[in-house]
Amino acid sequence: MNDHATAPNIGFLGFGEAARLLATDLVKSGYRGRLLGYSRRGAKAGPGDVAYEQAQAAGVQLTKTVAALAKGSDLILALTPGKAALPALKKILKHLRPEQLYVDASSNSAKAMEQAAALVGDKAKFVDAAILAPVDLQGLKSPFVASGAHAGEFRDRMTPHGLMIRVVGEAAGDASAMKLIRSAFTKSLAAILIESMEAARRRGILDVMTGDIAKTFSEIPFDKIIRRYISGTAVHCERRLHEMQDCLALLREMGSGDRSTRATVGTLRELIRMDMPAKFPKEPESIHPVLDAIIAARDRAA
Ligand SMILES: NC(=O)c1ccc[n+]([C@@H]2O[C@H](COP(=O)([O-])OP(=O)(O)OC[C@H]3O[C@@H](n4cnc5c(N)ncnc54)[C@H](OP(=O)(O)O)[C@@H]3O)[C@@H](O)[C@H]2O)c1
Repeated sequence: MNDHATAPNIGFLGFGEAARLLATDLVKSGYRGRLLGYSRRGAKAGPGDVAYEQAQAAGVQLTKTVAALAKGSDLILALTPGKAALPALKKILKHLRPEQLYVDASSNSAKAMEQAAALVGDKAKFVDAAILAPVDLQGLKSPFVASGAHAGEFRDRMTPHGLMIRVVGEAAGDASAMKLIRSAFTKSLAAILIESMEAARRRGILDVMTGDIAKTFSEIPFDKIIRRYISGTAVHCERRLHEMQDCLALLREMGSGDRSTRATVGTLRELIRMDMPAKFPKEPESIHPVLDAIIAARDRAA
């Protein structure tokens, strides 16, 4: 459903790739709200300039000042590089209005989002937002996570127009923390894939290895894999340490990369020091008690 009647006027603070693609898709879907954009280069652009022509093609009117952007917008969607988010906010701050949504969707630290929320205070309704996928792949369907007291309003106002917004926390910073913590998983998975596949390639078993891993991960639902890997490792960390030491020795013999495997050996040793096998003689149904035991042991040691 595209609820044209209530389409908020959107001001893109920072008009780069993400803003351009989102605007283009909004217009394609019949969005009736006004779309404004501000960037430092865009503010000086005129007909014939790339920034101007790109904005025209995306259905966005560039403003000369942040004041004009704020004046014409019900919802400001900040899409600057992370390090520019606070400077850009400071510049527009005095032009914000209390009824306006200020959604910071720049990739940033949770701390920077907390600072931004504190700066905005009650001058506008601040929302911490994070986009979890490249916008060129999914356009308007790119998944957003949002947090803070006004995240629900952002979701309720923009979901009818096609944005995919999930509220993940009550505090500003929660959404950006989720994106970063999620990256601890996805980027580390990429690193261990590179490491294990390098070894498989050296050994001449790459295709059979990728086929076997792909089969396992497509046959078992991923929530089961999460539980099995976390709960199973707590129970069996001693046995797994032995196996991973053999694995590390093999990678070294082959001259293969071993950084991620060394980290795994370190994690298994730590779980043993934390006495996990005694605490979990059999696999618990939920991962919560295992993670709580790890947190308690680490906090006690700190
Ligand atoms: N592109 C994606 O698929 C994607 C996906 C997830 C998250 N994100 C996040 O979304 C944000 C924007 O990404 P992007 O790919 O659109 O970046 P981009 O193409 O580099 O665009 C950034 C825009 O911000 C403007 N800008 C920089 N400093 C500014 C300031 N102080 N005041 C106002 N505007 C300023 C830039 O123009 P001027 O330098 O001319 O001002 C430019 O228009 C980033 O934080 C990125 O990490 C992007």
